[in-house]
Amino acid sequence: MTTSAKINGWLVNTAIQSTDCRSKPDIMTENFFQNNCLALEPYRGIMFAMTNSIPILTIDGPSGSGKGTISRIVSQKLGWHYLDSGALYRAIAVAASWNDLDLADPSALVRCTFDTDIAFEDEEGSELKIIVNGADATHELRTETAGAAASAIAAIPEVREALVERQRSFAKAPGLVTDGRDMGTVIFPEAQFKIFLTASASERAERRYKQLIDKGVSVTLDGLLREILARDARDSQRTVAPLKPAHDAVSIDTTGLAIDEVVQRVLSVVQAK
Ligand code: C5P
Repeated sequence: MTTSAKINGWLVNTAIQSTDCRSKPDIMTENFFQNNCLALEPYRGIMFAMTNSIPILTIDGPSGSGKGTISRIVSQKLGWHYLDSGALYRAIAVAASWNDLDLADPSALVRCTFDTDIAFEDEEGSELKIIVNGADATHELRTETAGAAASAIAAIPEVREALVERQRSFAKAPGLVTDGRDMGTVIFPEAQFKIFLTASASERAERRYKQLIDKGVSVTLDGLLREILARDARDSQRTVAPLKPAHDAVSIDTTGLAIDEVVQRVLSVVQAK
């Protein structure tokens, strides 16, 4: 059975099959689709206007630019909420792999996006925990395999569209710090503070290498560099929401900078306004 709907100009055709992305196979029914996508459509502008009064700091940039580390520290210093948008795409990738979904089957992946429960447990002093369909997926989510699958899934327009409201719902008082690829361009174009973090590909590969070696994961620097370059190319060349700085973003090149220095620069952008 298939159902189709137009969401913001995208025609979404969704085949409803018996295999599902979680243990509740009936969740993606035609009614579920209509109620959750089409019913929200008229309110999208209102909901976004409501979030506009909340201060939002977007930090976009390529893999390994330090977005995640910097964003979380800055959110804790400001006492604002934090959204790691890449974790959403990674969570869909992990849920898809748990269910043996084919990365070349967009309709199964769109259904998986709607079906997957994703929760964050964000406590100062410990790693951000990501719970996918009730199971702790924090470590699986951070693997290069999940990153590469997330990047492939993130190129599907309907998957991105299905995640728009989920991401915007994180904008809550007293404020939000969020990192990703399109936070300042697509998800929160009206954000008051926008940063674009960059760093040379070799430095990004080295940072990632250290992180993974510290976690006991065996990788090679060359392999990581190749993966980073491939992911950069895919993320910046895709047609929907490609990785690029918002026209009003402040760019910070973090090559050779310590974490504290980058945090200070980001905070100074917020304090300067
Ligand atoms: O930031 P992170 O490496 O965790 O993101 C994983 C992948 O998810 C990225 O390579 C990118 O393709 C995708 N992504 C995206 N838009 C975002 C965040 C992540 O397309 N806002």
